[in-house]
Amino acid sequence: MKQGGSDDAKRAAGESAAEAVEDGMVVGLGTGSTAAHAIRAIGAAVDAGLDVTGVPTSFQSRELAREAGIPLTDLDAAEIDLAIDGADQVAGGCLVKGGGAAHAREKIVDTAADRLLVVVDPTKEADVLDHPVPLELLPAARRPVAAAVERLGGEPELRRAERKDGPVVTDNGNLVFDCAFGAIADPAALAADLATIPGVVEHGLFVDVADEIHGGTADGVTVTE
Ligand code: 5RP
Repeated sequence: MKQGGSDDAKRAAGESAAEAVEDGMVVGLGTGSTAAHAIRAIGAAVDAGLDVTGVPTSFQSRELAREAGIPLTDLDAAEIDLAIDGADQVAGGCLVKGGGAAHAREKIVDTAADRLLVVVDPTKEADVLDHPVPLELLPAARRPVAAAVERLGGEPELRRAERKDGPVVTDNGNLVFDCAFGAIADPAALAADLATIPGVVEHGLFVDVADEIHGGTADGVTVTE
């Protein structure tokens, strides 16, 4: 698993996607260090007079958007024109997301948007998805969900907080399993199987939802449709 792309590459990708934001749009605001560059760029455009409203995908993106001066709304009040979000891995138009444990709200916002632009650095691009798939699960379902993942050939690992002695708890009060499946030959089939496990709130496979991938490098951006 490759990690830790350069911040210049992330900034290039995020700022490239932010250029697609137009006056009057409602924009889904993704989570993570790459989407954060897009949020800051949108904030600068709002500061310069662009009329944009954001729908955050996490506590982190909400706080960042507020700092950047982006007015916020939610899905009860608005329809989303465009979402910009990061990914942990991209292959053949499918994504693994959830490195920030925000994939449940990200999937709601990203799939509700008319268009989804995904922003990545080169370390995220792969021929075949093989990144562990995050599952958000109800705490009471920990053991049965682990058993169901193992029956599907996966190895579930409870995500632990880096600076605290305990598990990561999502914005929704749930736990996260990172589930290694090796190379995922059929992401749609695995996504369907994971979605049927009782107690799984959402999984991090995003199948055929991206309209554009903005791949940033220190030298520029490649946009793939
Ligand atoms: C959060 C996500 C992020 O978009 C993903 O983890 C990528 O983050 P970063 O841009 O910091 O590498 O899915 O749940």
